Amino acid sequence: MATASGSTRPDTTFDITLTINGDTREVAVAPWTTLLDLLRERLDLTGTKKGCDHGQCGACTVLVNGTRVNSCLVLAVMKDGAEITTVEGLAGLAHQKGTNTLHPIQEAFIEYDAFQCGYCTPGQLCSSVGMMNEGHAKSRDEIREAMSGNICRCGAYTNIVDAIEDVMQGDAR
Ligand code: FES
Ligand code: FES
Repeated sequence: MATASGSTRPDTTFDITLTINGDTREVAVAPWTTLLDLLRERLDLTGTKKGCDHGQCGACTVLVNGTRVNSCLVLAVMKDGAEITTVEGLAGLAHQKGTNTLHPIQEAFIEYDAFQCGYCTPGQLCSSVGMMNEGHAKSRDEIREAMSGNICRCGAYTNIVDAIEDVMQGDAR
């Protein structure tokens, strides 16, 4: 339906409250605003990357209530009240567990040289944490399968799996 401004979209916005990396954020969002666009364009959390914008590359992966999601496929209004963790907040998660500044998976990515250009890395990191929260993947093959939604154009897959395996083995020690 056309509005007075000539736009075919209604002017309706919805007030939502999100906890993002431990901070409470109240924002008014249009019903079609994706979580990815809210994070990047409204909240200056540009660590989360936009690759395909169609749920096919994993660059936009964040944690919603501890579960990994492709934020390009999620409407922000659907996540009212949720806890969101982006790559900017992973170190905060580690702090809560009483460890050092970086999250163990971030330290492992550095140690294993698990990136080249780094564009996929925020999504790989968040997806790794979400995968470990799920607790299904045990073997190297299972890690590869569970991480198959995160594409790395630089082909750093071997080192990424090395890094994840190291963290998982550390947790088991
Ligand atoms: S940008 Fe979301 S999956 Fe590619
Ligand atoms: S490090 Fe370049 S796309 Fe993965």
